[in-house]
Amino acid sequence: MHAVNYQNSGTSAQTQVANGHMRAVVFDHYGSLDNLTLGIVAKPTIGDHEVRVRVHAAALHVGDCFAVRGEPLLMRVETGIFRPKRGIPGFDLAGTVDAVGPHVTRFRPGDAVFGASMGTCAQFVVANENLVAHKPSNLSFEQAAALPTSGLAALHALRDVANVQPGQKVLINGASGGVGHFAVQIAKSLGAEVTGVCSTRNLDMVRALGADHVIDYTQEDFTAGGPRFDVIFDNVENRPLAACRRALTQDGTLILNSGTGASGLAMLIRLLKPLVVSPFVRHNLRRYLSTPNHDDLQALAKLAESEQLEPTIDSVHGLTDTPAALRHIASGRASGKVVIRVHAP
Ligand SMILES: NC(=O)c1ccc[n+]([C@@H]2O[C@H](COP(=O)([O-])OP(=O)(O)OC[C@H]3O[C@@H](n4cnc5c(N)ncnc54)[C@H](OP(=O)(O)O)[C@@H]3O)[C@@H](O)[C@H]2O)c1
Repeated sequence: MHAVNYQNSGTSAQTQVANGHMRAVVFDHYGSLDNLTLGIVAKPTIGDHEVRVRVHAAALHVGDCFAVRGEPLLMRVETGIFRPKRGIPGFDLAGTVDAVGPHVTRFRPGDAVFGASMGTCAQFVVANENLVAHKPSNLSFEQAAALPTSGLAALHALRDVANVQPGQKVLINGASGGVGHFAVQIAKSLGAEVTGVCSTRNLDMVRALGADHVIDYTQEDFTAGGPRFDVIFDNVENRPLAACRRALTQDGTLILNSGTGASGLAMLIRLLKPLVVSPFVRHNLRRYLSTPNHDDLQALAKLAESEQLEPTIDSVHGLTDTPAALRHIASGRASGKVVIRVHAP
């Protein structure tokens, strides 16, 4: 990708942007989040089944930090082995369809959409029409951009992996995070009795999301012999596997969703151990990979429109603040979602 740093380049940048180029946050090698710079790149060309979206907002998550750093190395299978393929961060977007490919059936120019693509911290993005859906009318573009990756991760874990049933007791560890705050609301929408684990400062937020019970992890350890849960959705993985299993009912399901707090062999062991143990115990110990699709984006949109799901926005940043936004996510202290505002709608 050819990128020109335009921050101090005045009118020539305006001319380039007008001539089939766009502004985007760019990086040309893996490394520090500070390698990100604002550049000018060619507007993406549209494929037969793709829509081009004028991006109003892009949401970030910890996967974007991994993609810029190129670590864990496994991530590079998708983003490029030696050098970043796309070189623009961001997987989530909300915006207005600007053009459609000849075989696109679901969307027309002017439609407000949200969804997933690669390189959404840019003025324009192309996305397969199966990876976007119409934006819920009651959400802002910032809120809609917050939904795809984290909302789908929560939906896939609770609806598909755990098959949560009405009346089940579900515990969400990391209930104030990007995935966790959606998980609390989705578990409630499935009829569960929900316990959220978070720090003192986020207790009110998690209660307001609808949690029936909250546990302040600075005061209490949810694995220390208290109530047992049919499902534990663990977005933090800061407790040993055996301790988490003690907090499960006899046939309970534990979904582990953060294998990344270690590196190298330790990370591999941490990722694989539950999967190796699971066939030999009554507990269902699971990991999963959430991938976006149109139907499930629509399912999130329906939940939002029926007011069962509302994204919480931690902070909104400009494109030039993308490194700071990613550093905030990397600190592990974001409450809800961190969003980049790109174009005004
Ligand atoms: N399986 C998949 O396909 C998939 C998809 C997306 C994401 N993920 C994974 O999901 C995990 C969670 O992502 P995320 O976006 O939700 O992370 P996040 O937004 O960065 O999580 C931040 C939150 O974690 C809370 N937290 C930190 N330490 C905690 C502790 N000891 N106990 C309870 N909460 C704690 C923080 O609350 P305080 O500041 O109050 O401590 C903060 O609200 C990541 O590991 C990510 O890789 C997996």
